[in-house]
Amino acid sequence: MSEAATLNVHGLSTGYRDRRIIQQLDLPVFRAGEVHSLVGPNAAGKSTLMRALAGLQSATGSVKLGGQELIGLPLAEHAKRVTYMPQTLPQGVALSVLESVLGALRASATGDPARDGHDAGEQRAVAILERVGILHLALEGLDHLSGGQRQLVSLAQSLVREPRVLLLDEPISALDLHHQLRVMRLVHELARERGMIAVMVLHDLQIAARWSDGIVMLSKGAVFATGTPGEAITPATLARVYGVQARVERCSRGGLQIMVDDVS
Ligand SMILES: Nc1ncnc2c1ncn2[C@@H]1O[C@H](COP(=O)(O)OP(=O)(O)OP(=O)(O)O)[C@@H](O)[C@H]1O
Ligand SMILES: [Mg+2]
Repeated sequence: MSEAATLNVHGLSTGYRDRRIIQQLDLPVFRAGEVHSLVGPNAAGKSTLMRALAGLQSATGSVKLGGQELIGLPLAEHAKRVTYMPQTLPQGVALSVLESVLGALRASATGDPARDGHDAGEQRAVAILERVGILHLALEGLDHLSGGQRQLVSLAQSLVREPRVLLLDEPISALDLHHQLRVMRLVHELARERGMIAVMVLHDLQIAARWSDGIVMLSKGAVFATGTPGEAITPATLARVYGVQARVERCSRGGLQIMVDDVS
């Protein structure tokens, strides 16, 4: 694993034209091999923060990966280190699933021609389609897929690039129970195998709690709570941030059982 492969975010500010959305935000240190979930209500600024971390949105402050400052890097350099899967999926692309994953690989720095000649690239693409569970769709046209299938393809496009930092914005929002579990397990395994840092935006707090090393709860553009799932997700934080009355109980496998009784 490379030296000090941590992601350190300090004093990050970003927004749109005349609106600051995120002000002077600090995040806990994210370490290689860890999975972190960014949670919070609609419009809290989760996607805005993810885009800033991906270098897709201008920002001030500091985002350091293994000691290297990413803010201000040219987008191509930034994209070699950080891959972002957006919340909304591209529509109307006349490519097959396999072509689209190969395209994502070629567009990335890890698509090194010496290492990834045509066959090697295809092997990598096929391997990731298999792990995501959509190899049977390899030759289907993207525009013939269901919403959930397209979300899985989008995930495969991100994973095939083998980034050091993987940012997934609501990657399971369109998936059935089987595929939700499969994707969470896969991201967790890949983070551990590759020493990758994975940061996911999730609305399902129970799933976030089960699969994350750490939780960042965002409210109105600011960090409201951080820590282990049990530390960050409590009746008090759920009441303050989401405006709900809820009970939280610890269950097996380190998970949390969250029962929302009412809106407060
Ligand atoms: N392109 C944009 N131009 C101007 N304002 C925007 C833009 N995109 C988002 N915003 C605003 O920024 C704020 C944060 O939006 P963001 O998309 O980051 O929220 P989010 O936490 O991802 O919410 P959700 O859970 O609904 O996806 C919102 O008030 C939104 O209106
Ligand atoms: Mg969002």
